[in-house]
Amino acid sequence: MITKAMQDAVNEQINKELFSSYLYLSMAAYFEDKNLPGFARWLRVQEVEEREHGMKFYDFLVDRGGRVELKAIAAPQKEWKSSLEVFKEVQAHETHVTASINALYELALKEKDYPAQVLLQWFISEQVEEEKNAADIVAQLELIDAHGTAVLMLDKTLGKRSGE
Ligand SMILES: [Fe+2]
Ligand SMILES: [Fe+2]
Repeated sequence: MITKAMQDAVNEQINKELFSSYLYLSMAAYFEDKNLPGFARWLRVQEVEEREHGMKFYDFLVDRGGRVELKAIAAPQKEWKSSLEVFKEVQAHETHVTASINALYELALKEKDYPAQVLLQWFISEQVEEEKNAADIVAQLELIDAHGTAVLMLDKTLGKRSGE
């Protein structure tokens, strides 16, 4: 049976994953509005992944005899100054999520919760990937700057992202 401290922390993390999903969906809507369907596509795939992350924690609580407690999801930002600003925020947000995953892992060590440690090891690797993906797009957008043609080319590339 999962400890109360671990259960509370996992419930907080479910909320963070669902907020990530909501934030990326809002970013997708921003790009749909800017007629950049490839950027929107990339974020829509990301949005689904974040909901799946939330569900991994949800299922973990259920399997461990814990109680899922869904909290309010804050309204995400709606406007950004540029494509670059959007992806800088994706990167900052993923760094923030990594910190909370690491804190959860520290708690799992303290509570001697071995199953939670195994689950969190998956998330620790996943965050390496998430931060890298965001950093790569930021780097490309920084190269492109305001060149419309290059933005359209990147839009095509990002539009090829397949949903796993
Ligand atoms: Fe996530
Ligand atoms: Fe993420």
